[in-house]
Amino acid sequence: MEIVFVEEGFKTLKADLSIVLVCDKNLTHTWVEDSDDLALLNFKGESEEIAFLPTKKIFYAGVNIHDAEDIKIALAKCIKSASKTSATSVKIGTYGEGSIKHIVEGVLFGTYVFDRYKTKKNQSKLKKILISSEDALGYTYDKKVAQSEIAYAKTLTEAVNFAKDLINTPPDIATPKMLANTAETLAKEIGNVECFIGDEKYLKKEGMGAFLAVSRASSEPPRLIHLTYKPKKSKGKITVVGKGLTYDSGGLSLKPGDSMTTMKSDKSGGCAVLGIIKAAAELKLPVEIHGIIGATENMIGGNAYKPDDVLESRSKKSIEIRNTDAEGRLVLCDCLDYAQETKPDLIFDLATLTGACVVALGEYTSGIMGFNDTLKQNFIQSALASGELCAELPFNRYLKKLLKSEIADICHISSTRYGGAITAGIFLSEFIKEEYKDKWLHIDIAGPAFVEKEWGYNSHGASGAGVRMVINYIQENIIKGKN
Ligand code: BES
Ligand code: ZN
Ligand code: ZN
Repeated sequence: MEIVFVEEGFKTLKADLSIVLVCDKNLTHTWVEDSDDLALLNFKGESEEIAFLPTKKIFYAGVNIHDAEDIKIALAKCIKSASKTSATSVKIGTYGEGSIKHIVEGVLFGTYVFDRYKTKKNQSKLKKILISSEDALGYTYDKKVAQSEIAYAKTLTEAVNFAKDLINTPPDIATPKMLANTAETLAKEIGNVECFIGDEKYLKKEGMGAFLAVSRASSEPPRLIHLTYKPKKSKGKITVVGKGLTYDSGGLSLKPGDSMTTMKSDKSGGCAVLGIIKAAAELKLPVEIHGIIGATENMIGGNAYKPDDVLESRSKKSIEIRNTDAEGRLVLCDCLDYAQETKPDLIFDLATLTGACVVALGEYTSGIMGFNDTLKQNFIQSALASGELCAELPFNRYLKKLLKSEIADICHISSTRYGGAITAGIFLSEFIKEEYKDKWLHIDIAGPAFVEKEWGYNSHGASGAGVRMVINYIQENIIKGKN
């Protein structure tokens, strides 16, 4: 999709269709020329309300102008609808400072389709979005600022869509080896990104007994993926670890059929890490970023790891297994141990770790855990500003005691069924060394990672959760140094 900023008034600019945002229900704005038709349609200009007047070739969409999400949702809805028409171009004005970024994000999420496996492909004729330099609120956009906002939002949104494509790819194709190849290709294409791939032999050499146990029953060999983006000038170093379960059948503690469907999305954390590296490198962010992905399947077989096994992790801590479906934390504990050796200023992990997180927060919100309150609060703020919902799930001493094992150093699941997202986070925290405790965040994206019923500007399938929140945290807190 071509998106261009044109220095011309909104009304005179030529395009097949127009989009007018009705701000805060103000139907008297000069761009709203069809109040009688809108009244007939009962259009009030509420958030998420849109009206299409085919004879006038105009979309009207209600927004609360102070809510960036409203703008993105409005654009996504209008563009989706416009894609079904024969129009090839659509025009829109601007709506105050920063609005171009939201417009571009809405357009590119709204037009996202994953039709690789459909014989009949997306037929949309829409090719061009024209952004008029006239602003509905009287703001004046500098041309350079406008163009750089378009470029920024395009790069970021395309990195999110890249992660979505990979997550949506079926498990038979998106195997650990395929993720590793994708990472290698990505590194080659972007330049200034290095890629190291560790195979089974390497995992053995590293003593990653927990990661290896999970991978054992799969006919697809596991891969440790380590990408490094190193800019010439760096304001800090951040390491992001991703859960890359290319399929989670549950292992011997097999998932019921209904819960197994969609488990191709258990690689969402790992794919988000690829999206983060892609976005950061293409945006040339002045921050060193390490992306580490534990890629494997969790399958069944005669050699599968079992409930009652005791595993030795890379950190040498022994782990009692009670349910092979709690596999993500086993892959992550070894990857986190490895990741701390990159000596980062901050270390985040992104994982579709627990169903309990979805129960606790709903399907739209990620759970943020860690020991550093300021870090958690700053992260949540940046995440919300980026358009991703997040909330804190607090650790406490009583939940920690539920991970006690009679036979090993720690049990990987809690002895009760409550607070499962937090106990999973506490389990991971046991593999974070003292000097990194305040530098670490665990982000459980199990809810928003995969969209079963479309919401906002997210269509069915992967949402790319994690990419925008981490990039925005880096922008607002490391680069702008807001801490
Ligand atoms: N991959 C799942 C978590 C998940 C569930 C992600 C639903 C997305 C949607 C994870 O590996 C898992 O199965 N966790 C178990 C843990 C339990 C056995 C302690 C769960 O959440 O039920
Ligand atoms: Zn599982
Ligand atoms: Zn899993």
